[in-house]
Amino acid sequence: MVDFKQEIANIISKVVEIDAKELKEYIEIPKDVKNGDYAFPCFRLAKELKKAPPAIAEELKEKIQINKELIEKIEIVGGYLNFYISTIKLTGEVLNEIAKQPKYGANEIGKGKNIVIDYSAPNIAKPFHIGHLRSTVIGAALYNIYKYLGYNVTGINHLGDYGTQFGKLIEGYRLWGDEYDIDKSPIEELTKIYIRINQLCKEDENVLQACRDNFKKLEDGDEYCVSLWTKFRELSLKEFQKVYDLLGSKFDSWNGEAFYSDKMPEVISILEKTGKLIESQGARIVDLEDKGINTPCIIEKTNGSTTYATRDLAAILYRARNYDFDKALYVTSYEQVLHFKQVFEVAKLLGLDEKYTKGLEHVPFGMVLLPTGKMSTREGNIVKLEDLLEEAISRAKEIIEQKNPSLPNKDEISKKVGIGAVIFNDLANSRVKDEIFDWNQILNFQGETGPYIQYTYVRTQSLLEKTGNVEIEDVRAELLQDIYSQNIVKLLYNFTDILEQVTEKNEPSILSRYLIDLSKAYSAFYNENKIMVEDTEMKNSRIYLTYAVGKVLKTGANLLGIEMPDKM
Ligand code: ARG
Repeated sequence: MVDFKQEIANIISKVVEIDAKELKEYIEIPKDVKNGDYAFPCFRLAKELKKAPPAIAEELKEKIQINKELIEKIEIVGGYLNFYISTIKLTGEVLNEIAKQPKYGANEIGKGKNIVIDYSAPNIAKPFHIGHLRSTVIGAALYNIYKYLGYNVTGINHLGDYGTQFGKLIEGYRLWGDEYDIDKSPIEELTKIYIRINQLCKEDENVLQACRDNFKKLEDGDEYCVSLWTKFRELSLKEFQKVYDLLGSKFDSWNGEAFYSDKMPEVISILEKTGKLIESQGARIVDLEDKGINTPCIIEKTNGSTTYATRDLAAILYRARNYDFDKALYVTSYEQVLHFKQVFEVAKLLGLDEKYTKGLEHVPFGMVLLPTGKMSTREGNIVKLEDLLEEAISRAKEIIEQKNPSLPNKDEISKKVGIGAVIFNDLANSRVKDEIFDWNQILNFQGETGPYIQYTYVRTQSLLEKTGNVEIEDVRAELLQDIYSQNIVKLLYNFTDILEQVTEKNEPSILSRYLIDLSKAYSAFYNENKIMVEDTEMKNSRIYLTYAVGKVLKTGANLLGIEMPDKM
């Protein structure tokens, strides 16, 4: 497909002494369609050419040679050169590309680059909470999109399966294990044990000591402790899997924190050699004051045990060596901003190539708020995720029952709609924003929601079912020049660009927004243009555009992790 931006950069580069690749980066897409399809801001050249931007614009306009087949006209507005591309050419190009590419919008921009995405990462023996859901959803969307653009992606579920709390759980289980049915509802029962043992630890110093000893024993491979830990882990994973099955989540690696237990001594010894690992109140820390971080990074606690940060450092070392990553992304809530600042700073001391330390990136996201306030375990607002997802499905079913009672496969469709709604809600807005979890909003078929996109898709499919398929050869681009068709064509053309933007900012909401825009553009087209017209050529062209919209909506939604029903 013609890369119009590139074409424009090429013709400009012929008359100025700047590489087309660099020029391409200058080219903008004007906010207002009145200013053309692409704009070249001449002030970017003002310094070099020692001329005022409008004068440069004049000169460029005089000198450049345009291919009339691609570009209809150029206009000067202030210091901008505005390019109007041939919309007939554009329409033909886009629709042909959609016809011939099964993976429309995919490219090879990521070829040879390795991306590691660390996401989901719930904690063993604790509830899989709504923040982990967000991490799972954002991480999976990024995973799919990077992959679509040709990157080699590894998805890691860095489970919280290690730490002193396991010493406590083991002790609690040893004392009262037979009072709890942990096989039946492991997380709930283990949480109860955890709360009870914590209480006892506060009252009895000896119990606390026993817990610490258990953790030490666990680290040293004591049979009893390891077998309990394994049992807790397995039971928890079985519970988590229910959520993953509902969401369709998959990971390439399940190496959690425990995986790094034998890899931390190396981190500590490297840090010792740098001389930056210092004693402070019995603990060993790296001071980061001179890096503008006021809180030191604790590497070893007073009792000699390692920390969450130490394990992340070992993981960086391991991932650099085993995945040779160009980017390593960490998808967690913004509550961990400080943690990753510290870890990424200390990672610079590990002697790794700069490529790796530069590739580390925290991808933070905001809290999930109930209309009544923060959802959290501590305040007792526990929302069990599996229940929440099941509720989404049953609410979706209720709506479908009302709207379309005779629909076949209602259960399967309700699942796609309910889960799709929750996923879309997590991705709808800029990720750092806090998100409000409000059932009425999430499942509103008319709102800017997952169901709205699915509904638009379903409309395209039922239209195609009625009309039968049209071949690309029967499309006449000249007949799709009205503003509603053109809005759609431009959006379709921008699809790859949107996906690239997602990866540049690690911001899936750019794609969510796009799918809403495309759905709205299709609704406007559908309302304004009659599709079943007498004129066969017109009818076929409009049907084909409908097909194209459906295809891109489905591709985009699937990349976000949302499944499309064919009917709803
Ligand atoms: N288990 C952690 C939590 O629940 C998230 C882990 C994120 N990944 C990491 N490499 N630190 O907060």
